[in-house]
Amino acid sequence: MGTKLLIVEGKSGKKQVIQEAADLLVKGEVVAIPTETVYGLGANARDEAAVDKIFKAKGRPNDNPLIVHVASKEQLFSLVKSCPTYVEKLIDTFSPGPITYVLESSGKIASNVTAGLSTVGLRIPKNEITLTLLEQTNLPIAAPSANLSGKPSPTTAQHVLEDLDGKIAAVLDGGPANVGLESTVVDCTQEIPVILRLGKITPDDIKQVAGEVKLATNITENTRTPKSPGMKYKHYAPDVPLILVQDNNKLQEIIDEEGSKGNRVGVLTSTGITNEIKADQIIILGRDEEEIAAKLYDALRSFKQNEVDIVVCESFPREGVGKAVMDRIERAANKII
Ligand code: TXA
Ligand code: MG
Repeated sequence: MGTKLLIVEGKSGKKQVIQEAADLLVKGEVVAIPTETVYGLGANARDEAAVDKIFKAKGRPNDNPLIVHVASKEQLFSLVKSCPTYVEKLIDTFSPGPITYVLESSGKIASNVTAGLSTVGLRIPKNEITLTLLEQTNLPIAAPSANLSGKPSPTTAQHVLEDLDGKIAAVLDGGPANVGLESTVVDCTQEIPVILRLGKITPDDIKQVAGEVKLATNITENTRTPKSPGMKYKHYAPDVPLILVQDNNKLQEIIDEEGSKGNRVGVLTSTGITNEIKADQIIILGRDEEEIAAKLYDALRSFKQNEVDIVVCESFPREGVGKAVMDRIERAANKII
C-alpha cells in the first residue's frame, strides 16, 4: 500500500485535504494525524476491523489499550458512564489539551480499542486540523502514537513515514507537534485522580483543580508492573544504546570513558554546559524544559547506528514538563549512572 502524504496548505486546500483524510477514516482506513503532543495513528473507534489495522501497522501488543480522540466535552461524556465531579472541572480547565482521562466506558466503541478493559482513555486534542477532522468524521477516533512499537513517538509527519511508510493509508501533515511528549494520562475512575503517565499537565496542575492527586506506582517506583498497560513495554528507544548521567559534572568523564573503549559517542545536552563538551555528535535540546520536551524525540531519532555507537545524555531539571522529560529518558535508557 502506498502511503499518501496529505499536506495542509492554504485555506481552500486545507479544507479539501482534511476532507480527504476524513473520507479515508470513514471508509475504515488508518490515517496518521497531527496533535499538539505527538502524531497519532487514527482509525474509527467503532470499527473493530479498522482498529485492528492500527495494532498490525504498529506491531502493538493487543493487550495495550488505545486512546480515543473526540472533538468536544459532550462527545466525551457520551462515551462514558457517570463519573466523579472533578472530571468536568479538569476538562473545563485543561481540554482541549495534552491530557487523557481514563473513565468507565459506556461500551459504544469496539472492544479491541480498550483491550477488553471496562475503562476507556479519552482526550480532546488541541490541534485545529485534527479538531476539524474529528468534526468532519463525526466519529470517535482511536489513536495511539504513530510510531512502530518501542520507538520514540513521532513529532513530525516525516517521523511517521520513517516508521510506517507503506503500512498505512495516509499521513495528514500538520507540521511539528509543539508539546513533543505524549499526554498526561489520569485515571479518573476513583474519588481521587491517579496519574498513570506524566506529561505537560503536571501533578500539581491537577491537584490545583481536583483538590487531590495521586501518582501510580509505575511512576513513583519506576517499576514495570503498572496499571496503565502500555507502561510495561520498552519505550522510546533510539537506534543506539543510551546512558543517562545523573551527575552532570561527570558528563565529559563518561563520554571520554566510552570514547576510550573505541565507541563513537553522541551527546544529548541543554545549551547550559555545551560549550565545554567534546564528542563525535552533539545535539543541543534547548534552554528550558518546554524546548527540551519539544525536541527530545527528534533528537533520539537522529542518532544513527552508522554514525554513533552510544548516546550519553545529561539530566535535565525536573520542573514543569521536565518531570515527564526525565521519565521518558529513564525509560529509554539502557543504563543510568
Ligand atoms: O498524547 C497522546 O496521548 C498521544 C496522542 C496521539 O494523542 N497518544 C498516545 O497513545 O500516546 P499511546 O497509545 O502511545 O499511549 C496511550 C497510553 C498507554 O500507556 C495505554 O496503556 C494508556 O494510555 N491507556 C489507554 N487506555 C487506557 C485505559 N483504559 N486504562 C489505562 N491506561 C490506558
Ligand atoms: Mg505510544
